[in-house]
Amino acid sequence: MKVDFLPVPARVEAIERAVPDNHLFYFRPETPMAVEPGQFVELSLPGVGAFPGSAAAYPSSTEFQACIRRAGRVTSALYRLEEGAPVGMRGPFGNGFDLEAFAGRDVLLVAGGLGMAPLRALLQALLDRKKDFGEIILLYGSRDPAALLFREELESLARRGQIRLRFSVDFVTDLPWSSEGFFCKVGLVTGLLEDLRFAPGRTTAAVCGPPALYSCVLEELASLGIDPGRIYATLERRMKCGVGQCCHCVVGGRFVCRDGPVFSLAELRSMEGAI
Ligand SMILES: Cc1cc2nc3c(=O)[nH]c(=O)nc-3n(C[C@H](O)[C@H](O)[C@H](O)COP(=O)(O)OP(=O)(O)OC[C@H]3O[C@@H](n4cnc5c(N)ncnc54)[C@H](O)[C@@H]3O)c2cc1C
Ligand code: FES
Repeated sequence: MKVDFLPVPARVEAIERAVPDNHLFYFRPETPMAVEPGQFVELSLPGVGAFPGSAAAYPSSTEFQACIRRAGRVTSALYRLEEGAPVGMRGPFGNGFDLEAFAGRDVLLVAGGLGMAPLRALLQALLDRKKDFGEIILLYGSRDPAALLFREELESLARRGQIRLRFSVDFVTDLPWSSEGFFCKVGLVTGLLEDLRFAPGRTTAAVCGPPALYSCVLEELASLGIDPGRIYATLERRMKCGVGQCCHCVVGGRFVCRDGPVFSLAELRSMEGAI
């Protein structure tokens, strides 16, 4: 296999700073690059370094959106850039979500924190072909109301009947907490599954969030009756090459960068140390 390790030159086109330390960046690559929901690119800052970032929007070959958390050295350097600054993009990498696995079925999306970003891309892809899917339910948990990503956008979709939406927050100062009539709960996102009306036998689920979310939600969804082969999660591992060459991301004998990052629960059960 020929591997091109040279990044495509790109520019920071716009930055939305709605949520502190979780800004939405718009990148414009010089060469068209469509990154599907669940796929990622290696974003590089000249003279600083590179890191993987997932697609936060349904693909456009001329624009790549990523919601990036200010985590450490390279992402902090990204936060210091202005619009128009040069960056590099290598990819797209990974398998992404297989939309056919959702076709003709209800969809349950479970997001925790920044995990909402890749699921936003999937949600946009599903809504683009809405008639091919059943009801779409989104359960989204965050630290506090101010940290909810894309809140207005999601509420607008729910108001128009495109999705059924439930929020949870770990912490809130004003009780009772409500958001324009949408169901909101104080507690973990798993609490949103209690008393949720849905049909597990005809549902495909996608889950994205921190590791602690996976350890409680994935098996819970299976115990509610969703087929483990139809429960998907995206894994995050430290990565270097992104193309199955350096072995940095291997878990349970699988390359997260190349075979994933999206795996079904049926696969994850046989990958020791994955969750
Ligand atoms: C496939 C994939 C997709 C990703 N998509 C996004 C995205 O869309 N938005 C986003 O904000 N982040 C995303 N990440 C995580 C992001 O790549 C890291 O936060 C980034 O590498 C941090 O780089 P840094 O140099 O700023 O921080 P560093 O200085 O390298 O690290 C800062 C802190 O984050 C921890 N850390 C760094 N990388 C990881 C990791 N992969 N897993 C667990 N802990 C880590 C370090 O241990 C350290 O505590 C993704 C990671 C992967 C593997
Ligand atoms: S990141 Fe190099 S093998 Fe996966």
